[in-house]
Amino acid sequence: MLIAQVTDTHIRANGKPAYGQVDTAGHLSACVRHLNSLPRRPDAVLFTGDLTDYGQPDEYALFRRLIRPLEMPWFVIPGNHDDRVNFREAFPEVGDWRAHPDFIQYCVDDFPVRLVGLDTYDGPKEGMLCEDRLAWLDACLSEQPDRATLIFMHHPPFLTGIRHMDAQNCRNGKGFATVLRRHPQVRRLICGHVHRTIQVHWNGITASIAPSPAHSVALDLSPESPPAFVMEPACCQLHYLSEEGLVVSHLSFIGEFDGPYPFFSSDGRLIE
Ligand SMILES: [Fe+2]
Repeated sequence: MLIAQVTDTHIRANGKPAYGQVDTAGHLSACVRHLNSLPRRPDAVLFTGDLTDYGQPDEYALFRRLIRPLEMPWFVIPGNHDDRVNFREAFPEVGDWRAHPDFIQYCVDDFPVRLVGLDTYDGPKEGMLCEDRLAWLDACLSEQPDRATLIFMHHPPFLTGIRHMDAQNCRNGKGFATVLRRHPQVRRLICGHVHRTIQVHWNGITASIAPSPAHSVALDLSPESPPAFVMEPACCQLHYLSEEGLVVSHLSFIGEFDGPYPFFSSDGRLIE
């Protein structure tokens, strides 16, 4: 199984660039073309929040239009730049509203790895996993204790060293870790929010943050790092379920690059 993770697309409507600089719609279109043209097509795409920049209906409409060409199923959860009411209206097919009316949380049982999406939205900046959301997670994970599971969410529950982003991470990480300790079938935790590639071993689980296909948060680990972004190469992540049952994560750069060049000539000799 191959899962693509795309995060923090920050779509703005009416041709407006995000922060006066970033053509986020153009970057998402390029990402969609990239995913459709990969040699091995992903089985699903997970969008881990901040789909839009301001959570406006016209931004969600544009987001949907831009991902329409995707040739595989996709799943979305909100980030702090989203708006839960407008999100819900834009994606009425996502989530089980009757079972869980207040939050956009759900599990996907169609694949070899069980996918569980969590809603960490708690206003325009930091995130939260409150006791309600964690109780739902605990019940959901208790249903299938023996199935390899991957959790996807927006705000990371751990610090990254980028202080202005750490100030907005997911609160109640302790409560979240307590739930996860009861469910060792959770193999991976994948997040967005920080617009950088980051990995950590957190409370016994491998957790990661994916980069954005648009702008990156500047890598500044000094204590007084100002909020700033840089236009590093656009990326998404590919999470591959190996034959050993491990979730192996790759970075996938979006764009035109030289190559591929063969290592070996047609007669099988290494090209010197
Ligand atoms: Fe973001």
